[in-house]
Parts: sequence; C-alpha cells; structure tokens
Amino acid sequence: MNVRRATADDIDAITELSRYAYGEPESESAISRKRAEFGYERSYVAEDDGRITAALRVYRFEQNIRGTWKSMGGIGDVASAPEVRRQGQIRDLFTQVMESMRKEGLVISTLWPFKNSFYAQFGYATLPPNRRLEADPSMFSQWPLPRGYRLERLPFSTGIKQYSKVHAAAVESIHGAVRRDEARWTELGIGNKDEIAIVYGPTGEPEAGMWYKAQGYGDPPDASEKPGTMRVIECYWLNPRARAALFNYIYLHSDQTVSVRIPVSPSDEDSYLWIDSFNRKAVLIRTTGTAMARIIDVVDFIRGLPASQKDRLGVRVRDRQCTWNNQTFQLECDGRLMTVSQAGNAAARTELTIEGLTALCYGALTTRELREYGWLSAHSEDDLRLLDTWFPTKCPWLKEPF
Ligand SMILES: CC(C)(COP(=O)(O)OP(=O)(O)OC[C@H]1O[C@@H](n2cnc3c(N)ncnc32)[C@H](O)[C@@H]1OP(=O)(O)O)[C@@H](O)C(=O)NCCC(=O)NCCS
Repeated sequence: MNVRRATADDIDAITELSRYAYGEPESESAISRKRAEFGYERSYVAEDDGRITAALRVYRFEQNIRGTWKSMGGIGDVASAPEVRRQGQIRDLFTQVMESMRKEGLVISTLWPFKNSFYAQFGYATLPPNRRLEADPSMFSQWPLPRGYRLERLPFSTGIKQYSKVHAAAVESIHGAVRRDEARWTELGIGNKDEIAIVYGPTGEPEAGMWYKAQGYGDPPDASEKPGTMRVIECYWLNPRARAALFNYIYLHSDQTVSVRIPVSPSDEDSYLWIDSFNRKAVLIRTTGTAMARIIDVVDFIRGLPASQKDRLGVRVRDRQCTWNNQTFQLECDGRLMTVSQAGNAAARTELTIEGLTALCYGALTTRELREYGWLSAHSEDDLRLLDTWFPTKCPWLKEPF
C-alpha cells in the first residue's frame, strides 16, 4: 500500500469513497463532487494495486490559542473502503499526514471524531463539548431592536461578504476559534441554501451576524409534518447591543417557528438570561459534540503562548506517533511569553503524554485532572502549580464544520 497526496485524477475515487462511507444521498453527489474538486490538493490517499482504498483531507486554518494564532490542520473526510477496513490503512495515512503537517508548519491538528477512542490512539485529546440552547423564540420577547440598529436578511451567497467581516472580528477574541480565508468562505458557499442575517449599527458597519436555516411552519396539527424550527448554525456579535438586535430578530420568528436552536459559547455565561419564563416552558441546553486536538510540533506550538510567571521547567513528553516530540523540553517564560527548547534525553521530574500536554495548553484540563487520566506524572507539587499558572483552564470553542 502506498500513501500519497491526491491529484486531480483522484477526484472521482475520493468522491465515491466518501459517498459510500458517509452514506450520502444521491441528491448530494453534485455538491460532494464540487467540494472534492475544490479541496483535492489537501487530500491524502492510500492506494492498493492502483486503487484508492482510503482517504482523508487536511483543512488548513489559523486557530486562536489564548489570543495567539497557530497554524492548524483540521482532519476531515476520513474514510476507508469496507473491504480493507481494520488493516491499518487509516493508521498509515495518519502517520504520514502528521509528518507532512509538521513539514508544512501546521503545529496543531483538530478533528471531529465519530468515536473518541479511535482517534485517541493517534494521540488526540478530547476537548470540552460545544453547547446549544433550544427554546421557543417567543421567549426572546424582552429584546427590542436597539435605537439606531437595523437588520438585513440575505441568501448565504451574498450575505457572506458582510458576515465574514463580523466573523473575522469576533474570532480575534475567541480562544479555540479559527480564521477563515477567502477559499474557505467559497467552499462553505458551495450548494449552500442557508440564510444570513446581518445587524448594522448606528455607524452603518456590520456588528453582528447569524447563519441559520428556518424550516417548517409553526406547530402543525399533523405530527408527521416538521414543526417550524430555526436552526442557528453560527452567530457572532461584537457588542451587547448588536446581540440584542439579533435576539429581537429571533423573537420576530415566534409565529412561524416553535423552536430556535442557538449555539452557546463558553463566554456566554448569561445565556439563561437570554430568555423569559425559563421555568414555564421547555428549555434545553444540549451538548452538540466534542472536537479533539493534538499538538503536532511541541516547540512551535508552545513558543509565543502568553503566560504570566517568569520561570523555567523541564518536562519529558511521551509521543508514540510524532517521534520528534518524544523527548525532554525546557519550557521557559519571561513573564509575558513562553519559549521552548529541545533537551533530548535530559532528565525531567515531570512527564506528560502528548494528549496531556495538548489538553493542558488548550485549557481543557488542570494538572490534577491530567494526573487522574494518567496523562501526567510529577514528583513536585511546585512544578504542577507552575504549569497550572502558565496554562490556566480556558474553555476552547471550535465550531468549524469540517
Ligand atoms: C472509521 C474508519 C475510517 C476506520 O478505518 P480503518 O481502515 O478500519 O482504520 P485502521 O484499520 O487504520 O484502524 C486503526 C486501528 O483502529 C482499529 N479500528 C478501526 N475501526 C475501529 C472502530 N470503529 N472502533 C475501534 N477501533 C477501530 C483498527 O482495528 C486498528 O487497530 P490496530 O492497529 O490495533 O489493529 C472506517 O471504518 C470508515 O471509513 N468508516 C465510515 C466513515 C467514518 O466513520 N469515518 C470517520 C469519520 S470521523
């Protein structure tokens, strides 16, 4: 079996593999093909006797990690043909792809797992789940449109011009979020029939945006019909007044929809105050899936992360797949930023698995929790206090669909 980068000649085979593995309906095939045409250069394939038997794609992003931007490889479209499954083809693809990501300067990788334990074997750590609120839009009645604000509704294809401005400004302050380049917006637009709502503030500039679908109507008497739902795929605001304008817009859907589903980010600590009559109507806060993350290059990932305590510490990292990470590193902070140097086989009192180091740096777990999961061993409580001070918990929010 041979693993290699895909070429334009592989587009049909990649599309067919995805169709089968993900059970895509016939109606989606033209869109899937267009997406494959768009992103084939970022795909890797496993070839057996000249036939493509497994594939995955590396989406390239910049990810906000504690306010700094890190190059991230998002792994998606992972599939192997059923006749070759459980023979290690995806494992071999991952081994090669992790090396390629490192060469290309992608210092971290994330993915959306079908099963966490499958990707845990490749060193990926589970991040905290995303959440969404589900309520009746009439419960947003307390939000009038703020003076000087207006809202525009547009199809996705034209709305993304303004929506992308809001997105770019909002992700600057969201730990875990990604920047989208022009190509990414174009790809998200392929076959996209969703709606965009843009809130303009008193200066005429966009200050909030929502990407959503409104489906069905009201609360139909016939249970076989879909009741009206408003599914907010994404929403971002740059200030509370712009958010109020979006909530007012949601309220204005009260007659046509009975349920709105809206993402709730870790910084939305007041989400229980968004709605009225919390105790009288059904309100759900659901988890909507966990992403997983993995450091690809310890040195380049940690270098430049902000941290506050001037100090240094040697840590031994265990990484079974990315052997270049499997050594001791000297971590150092000048009171503002982290730097890292390789220390080979030097002794270190604290030992972390790559999953543990990833979860710590992403702000997902404390050192105490890492110990409980067997991802950290240490002989000095001072070392642990230092690591927790350098990398305090901070819930990451990755919402990128790939
Ligand atoms: C999931 C999928 C990609 C796995 O492909 P595969 O070719 O079987 O993967 P590999 O053989 O390289 O598996 C690597 C290891 O994981 C094991 N494994 C494979 N599928 C597994 C599963 N569903 N659960 C647990 N372990 C699994 C393999 O046995 C192998 O273990 P080993 O190295 O100890 O022998 C394949 O089943 C598939 O295409 N499924 C449908 C699409 C899908 O779900 N894609 C993933 C979306 S995130």
